[in-house]
Amino acid sequence: MSTSIDSTLSETRSFPVPADFARQANLDAEMFARLNQQAAEDPDRFWGDLARRHLEWAVPFQLVLEADQAPFYRWFADGQLNVAHNCVDRHLRGASRHKAALIWEGEDGAVRTLTYAQLHREMQLFANALKHQGVRKGDRVAIYMPMVPEAVIAMLACARIGAIHTVVFGGFSAEALKDRLEDTQARVLITADGAWRAGKVVPLKRHADQALLREHGHAVQRVIVLRRTGTEIDMQDGRDIWWGDATAAMSADCPALPMQAEDPLFILYTSGSTGKPKGVFHSSAGYLLWSMLTTRWVFDVKPEDVYWCTADVGWITGHSYVVYGPLANGATVFLYEGAPMYPQPDRFWAMIARHGISILYTAPTAIRAFMKMGDEWPRRHDLSSLRLLGSVGEPMNPEAWMWYHQTIGGGRCPVADTWWQTETGGHMIAPLPGVTANKPGSCALPLPGISARIVDDQGNFVRAPDVGGYLVIDRPWPGMLRGIWGDPARYLENYWARFDHRYYVAGDSARRDADDYFWMMGRIDDVLNVSGHRLGTAEVESALVAHPAVAEAAVVGVPHDIKGEALCAFVVLKHRHQGDDRDELGAALRAQVTELIGAIARPDDIRFTDTLPKTRSGKIMRRLLRSIARGETIVQDTSTLEDEGILQQLGTAKKS
Ligand code: PRX
Repeated sequence: MSTSIDSTLSETRSFPVPADFARQANLDAEMFARLNQQAAEDPDRFWGDLARRHLEWAVPFQLVLEADQAPFYRWFADGQLNVAHNCVDRHLRGASRHKAALIWEGEDGAVRTLTYAQLHREMQLFANALKHQGVRKGDRVAIYMPMVPEAVIAMLACARIGAIHTVVFGGFSAEALKDRLEDTQARVLITADGAWRAGKVVPLKRHADQALLREHGHAVQRVIVLRRTGTEIDMQDGRDIWWGDATAAMSADCPALPMQAEDPLFILYTSGSTGKPKGVFHSSAGYLLWSMLTTRWVFDVKPEDVYWCTADVGWITGHSYVVYGPLANGATVFLYEGAPMYPQPDRFWAMIARHGISILYTAPTAIRAFMKMGDEWPRRHDLSSLRLLGSVGEPMNPEAWMWYHQTIGGGRCPVADTWWQTETGGHMIAPLPGVTANKPGSCALPLPGISARIVDDQGNFVRAPDVGGYLVIDRPWPGMLRGIWGDPARYLENYWARFDHRYYVAGDSARRDADDYFWMMGRIDDVLNVSGHRLGTAEVESALVAHPAVAEAAVVGVPHDIKGEALCAFVVLKHRHQGDDRDELGAALRAQVTELIGAIARPDDIRFTDTLPKTRSGKIMRRLLRSIARGETIVQDTSTLEDEGILQQLGTAKKS
């Protein structure tokens, strides 16, 4: 991360808003100023007006914000609405009824389009199928699917009947799926026989079967299986049912159930600095409002756009910006099933040209990977349909920013580098394409209604420019998480305890420049960001320690050209395994991490050592390990180190 901070510190370029973009933008400078003023003067009125104007309510709310149980905030709590109704049904009036809601391209090149009317029908068929399988309001339903329209249909069907979905990324292992099934006590699991990835099949149903072994503590009674790859699978009698059979006799009429604004819409697991991933849950109305508004403001979505967010629905980006935000706006959403460079590195650019995609939202790691493949790949295609580019997941280094802006955006598209998190529900700090000039590497300014601050160790506001500190949010917003599933204490501890419950603490550090632009500086906790994916060091360490040969492990991040950060693991072997073949062990440990978490958590570098550097009180000195992993000279004070001789050994620890 340090290299990107260094290069952003010397970054001074600025790209003004293109005049023709500003003229047509959903949000212009005057509206931006007015919204900011309203939000500052009367936040309840500001949020209340937006929620009335942009959402359709079954029962209107009277109360905007309830803060008596803060930080367990409640928004619009006496109102009722249905999220699926807002995302689909309300677009059935008039011409948008027959416009494409989803355009999907399979990895094999097959294309399917669903209009809003067709999506409405499919969603209702499946919602009735879920009801028929016994799913009731408040039940949890797990979704472990490829990127196919049915994944979106399943999410919306849950929302329609008030079931709480928990989408598990298809790249996660059986073990990770098992943990999420146990924690949510989901009654139904929706999956597929397999998923296509770079021409190969990811055996989703086989993973599901492993996750569902009887001895596990899950509550799944029914598995609904979509046929996608034609892979041979076992269908367990009385438990498993094909998607087609589950929907066959169903009526295509399933009324949307009005939900309380605060009823949870979904649970999504994300990594923290300690323990297992935690189940962040979001509300119905507040979350929908924020994902919708940010899509409208930051991406400037218009009825004629073909909009593509490349994230998988298994991540928050897929929830807010593949499904809920764009559909609530009545947009045409493009979905792609497979691997980005398959069958060759111009797949993205070919699809943009083929489908006339006008808004592209992707991640710095993808941009860097494409950049490395060379300009000839995008040059082969007509990218003139693009009018706006977005980025999310990690800091974008100015070099990647410039390439994205010039080579992909032809120098004419505003770039929205959006800072936010699973917990925030939607964008928090991002340039507004019709208002804010771009500075490569900066996420620009907080959105209207968002009060982002930088504070020092004591919690005092840092006002001086270019001084780093904790990034905090000091006012509630409707899209904020409502808690950690089943663990309110962890919610308080994780996000609020650091500064006496005064601020939401994001876990990132940031600085602000003289124009008040925010520059993200990376995590301040033991959370790593590998290819835009959040991973807890503790999670990876416990996967390593679960191997019989391992006594102890410590994982740190090292800068990586493409991934942003890569994992380096320091591993201490048990006595009787010290003579084992290190290459074989390295391979076994990588396999172990893949099995327990998923391939995204596989360490790039594994170093075997006799002990780990610890303070006299027994704490692992991670900063020291980080320096060693990066090959830096040690500048830290090592006087608290229990055994100084360890340094020499670590420097030469054998790599695998
Ligand atoms: O460290 C920040 C980084 O990703 C974290 C959130 O990860 P997750 O909950 O998985 O959500 C990712 C998609 C929203 C943040 O705490 N991050 C996200 N976007 C940016 C970023 N860092 C710098 N710049 C960004 N644009």
